[in-house]
Amino acid sequence: MAGLDRNFTDELRARLSVVDVVGRRVPLTRKGQNYWGCCPFHNEKTPSFSVNEEKGFYHCFGCGEHGDIISFTMKTNNMDFKEAIQELANLAGVKMPEYKPRNPDIVKQEEALFDICERAASSYSEKLFTPEGAQALEYVRRRGFTDDMIKKYRIGYAPKNNLIANKFADSKFLISSGLCRRGDYGMYDFFRDKLMFPIFNARGNIVAFSGRSLDGSEPKYINTTDTDIFHKRKTVFGFNFARDAIHRANRSIVVEGQIDAIKMQCNGFGETVAPLGTALTEDHIALLCKSNRNITFCFDGDSAGQKAAARACDIVMPFLRDTSDIKFAFVTGGKDPDEIIKTFGADAMRKIIDEATPLVEFLWNLANTNFVVSTPGGRSQAEKFLKKQIEKIVDSDLKSEFEKEYDKRKFDSWHKWKKTNNAVKIKLPDIDNITKSTLIYIINTFPELGERYLDFLGTLNIDFDGVAADLNLDVAAAEKYIVSLKLQRHLEKLNAQKRELTTQLLAGDTGARDEIARIDEDIVKYQEKLEILITI
Ligand code: UTP
Ligand code: MN
Repeated sequence: MAGLDRNFTDELRARLSVVDVVGRRVPLTRKGQNYWGCCPFHNEKTPSFSVNEEKGFYHCFGCGEHGDIISFTMKTNNMDFKEAIQELANLAGVKMPEYKPRNPDIVKQEEALFDICERAASSYSEKLFTPEGAQALEYVRRRGFTDDMIKKYRIGYAPKNNLIANKFADSKFLISSGLCRRGDYGMYDFFRDKLMFPIFNARGNIVAFSGRSLDGSEPKYINTTDTDIFHKRKTVFGFNFARDAIHRANRSIVVEGQIDAIKMQCNGFGETVAPLGTALTEDHIALLCKSNRNITFCFDGDSAGQKAAARACDIVMPFLRDTSDIKFAFVTGGKDPDEIIKTFGADAMRKIIDEATPLVEFLWNLANTNFVVSTPGGRSQAEKFLKKQIEKIVDSDLKSEFEKEYDKRKFDSWHKWKKTNNAVKIKLPDIDNITKSTLIYIINTFPELGERYLDFLGTLNIDFDGVAADLNLDVAAAEKYIVSLKLQRHLEKLNAQKRELTTQLLAGDTGARDEIARIDEDIVKYQEKLEILITI
């Protein structure tokens, strides 16, 4: 327990409900003794993740994950023990007791790794300004880096030879730092002939490097592989520099590339960061959300950017709160933010950021562009997609607001389309011969009725020159006959509409349900009228 007072963790367990803590991340429903939800540790659709309030444990019957509020907080936030305790203490509103020092051996090892990275960065910086680095220096200047920027971001050059392996030959940490590898002929440098970008941790220690190739060779960028002090999935490029600005601006901006992040930071967007490599992870979002939950994602305008945006949306949903402001911007008119700033200036970039699409809109657009919503099947798929995304929202009020919002949108834009479509489809059967000859008799005998009901009679499509029935009706009975026929025809039409809508409902179009209910009411009303008429 890393030196932390045992009583304090017990106190946290006593103060905090495991259902509350887990429920912040995983929607839970009570079933019997336990609460159930979909396991956050593996992918599943039917809940096999149970939480027992009394015992203070969660357990997944699907993947076997098991633990308490502390392990849950550590795992879902990617926090270490201390961070998790701090988070839970905040949640419980209690103060953390003083921490005892950490294992001195681990601290020593980490410091040694920080030290070698720091010294390597200095060596790379020096090299950039030697003849060996001349080409790299020229490149980086051409890309718009001033000397101040080179200094601030500690950009350097890793030469073609084994600079680090030779210079720090006596260090025990060459391999564990990720800077060197062992080959058949001894140690060699991992980064050779690269433009070097140090990667800092949140506290500003250099923990790794990203090297860009200068001769057009692939891959364009290579990063230090994970070490004891560097975890790529958890590290956000530029975060150490952006931290204060993220607080001041009350938002962060996430761009795709690290040069983009640097350019943004130096052009009025200090709050900009980038993931390392293109894949954005939950850990990246979790780190940003520690400051605030307002993130503007800014993606390149290509199809890869669209894909990345959909993925970011997918990842960010569980982090939404009702105060969050998540937006999606797409770079148009250039390849990436770097290019926009260079070609059109920072104002053009500001416009792109200002015009970012809010998440609620972005998600709706995704549903409408990824599925053919003009068909019941497409709408059903889009509906499932939206539902799956909304399911991830932890705050139940917010979740229900999203549901209502999309229900309204679905009705307004999917079902209106359908309504106009099915109205024209209904065709009633032709009038039979007996009815026809009765009507001919009535019109011949009482021409005033023919005039009064002209509109209706016109809809029947019959030829009034035919043979009249041999009847003997008075005018009242004749009028009753026409009116009841009119009511019957209307009822037939309503029933046909109802059949049509029922077919749509069965095809998954739930919006048809309301309309069927309305038609049912009408049917009852007209049925009553008809019965009254017949009985008089
Ligand atoms: P891009 O291919 O969009 O490059 O990759 P970029 O950022 O515009 O690079 P420059 O401007 O030509 O220097 C976006 C990001 O993806 C990661 C890098 O972090 C890069 O910034 N990446 C790309 C890699 O990790 N490896 C690669 O081979 C390519
Ligand atoms: Mn670029």
